[in-house]
Amino acid sequence: MDIKTGSTAKLEIDGKVHELAVIEGTEHERAIDIASLRSSTGCITLDDGYGNTGSCQSAITFIDGEKGILRYRGIPVAEMAEKSSYVETAYLLIYGHLPRKSELQRFSKMLTQNENLHEDMKYHFEGFPSQAHPMAILSAMINASSCFYPGQMQRPTRDVFDEQAARLISQVRTIAAFSYRKSRGLPIIYPKPSYKYTENLLHMLFSDVYEDYELRPEVVRALDTIFILHADHEQNCSTSTVRMVASAQANLFASAAAGVCALWGPLHGGANQWVIEMLSDIHSSGDDGSRFIKAAKDKNSGKRLMGFGHRVYRNYDPRARIIKETCDTLLKTLNISDPLLDIAHRMEEAALSDPYFIERKLYPNVDFYSGIILRALRIPTEMFTVIFAIGRMAGWIANFKEILDDPKGRIYRPRQVYTGATLTSYVPMGARGE
Ligand code: CMC
Repeated sequence: MDIKTGSTAKLEIDGKVHELAVIEGTEHERAIDIASLRSSTGCITLDDGYGNTGSCQSAITFIDGEKGILRYRGIPVAEMAEKSSYVETAYLLIYGHLPRKSELQRFSKMLTQNENLHEDMKYHFEGFPSQAHPMAILSAMINASSCFYPGQMQRPTRDVFDEQAARLISQVRTIAAFSYRKSRGLPIIYPKPSYKYTENLLHMLFSDVYEDYELRPEVVRALDTIFILHADHEQNCSTSTVRMVASAQANLFASAAAGVCALWGPLHGGANQWVIEMLSDIHSSGDDGSRFIKAAKDKNSGKRLMGFGHRVYRNYDPRARIIKETCDTLLKTLNISDPLLDIAHRMEEAALSDPYFIERKLYPNVDFYSGIILRALRIPTEMFTVIFAIGRMAGWIANFKEILDDPKGRIYRPRQVYTGATLTSYVPMGARGE
């Protein structure tokens, strides 16, 4: 809840002074409340790309980009990565507190009860071309799933929200695995009720009909850590999209499907796939990374150092630090030597001592090392952003719930400064020239 500071900001427009309330969040972030600006002054604020716009008040995740802090419901992400599981993290984000034992048991049971897709949904997978990108399948199938269960087409009421949220968290994993199996022409493997969340995903991805995939604890833990680290990140592009769609009172599945589409972009979650493509290109061209860094600094090259930079972090992304450690440990444990990891280390070192990156405060982000872990887990590159989406589902649902629970919620509807043609008349075809 915001705190009214009692301070005001004064804005002078055409000689007239307007007073605007200054509000403060629980971590002392201050904001000028401009909600009544247009009605009192006729002006709107303009902030291309929303770099300075608070679109909502939220109690889920706190980021201090200057200090490199990320907390879920107040708990540092590093603590969650060390001590928690993805399922517990999802509960924390959605319901606002760490679950008691009975609450976690109930939540886990609901995930298990909802892990299988409606049988008829299986036929939809056959309609996609074999090379379809799994992110396209994921968003389409999440949206389609609202048609398969009574009541899911409407915005959920609080009494059905829990079950719908559990279904979505559980089934996103099943859809992801089925889309992968379909793209490889492999028979579908159903989830096993005895397996935990992340074990089950690995099972559905990699088991054979005649032999179960061997679940190594360090592999399961590494993937679970990735899910925890991706679980929420306040008002990023996909989460804002989910909130935007939810604000129109669209249902949970339509809102989440929109989030998947936004996440797919290479500047957002899609970057984890592009980091590996970039590192592979560097490797195959015989570059040690320095040629690519030079190109990334040249605005005309059309290249960016993927996995570097962040709108909010002007410091090392705390998730990247944990992912890097997880990556180094995992590869050592599995005895994997990946030349792409060596290139990544070299590039990070070079970039962090290069004035271009230093001046712009560009550090590795969550995507820089996550792809190397996913490669070590044998997850194919085109599935990387899907893995991000599975983790982020918790945050999207938590944000959806904030909209659902807000009795004063209004539809999100930004304004614009129009720069097009002024009043003009329709010209008949014959008068338009050849
Ligand atoms: N490589 C080279 N230059 C960069 C990079 C980069 N990765 N990122 C930013 N810059 C430069 C940019 O050209 C600009 O330079 P100048 O001031 O000379 O014009 C300056 O740094 C500021 O960049 P910006 O584009 O204004 O920053 P932004 O906040 O709009 O964009 C970003 C943030 C993440 C989209 C951008 O840093 C980027 O494209 N990074 C690569 C893609 C990537 O790794 N995305 C994953 C983000 S983390 C996962 C997630 O949450 O989505």
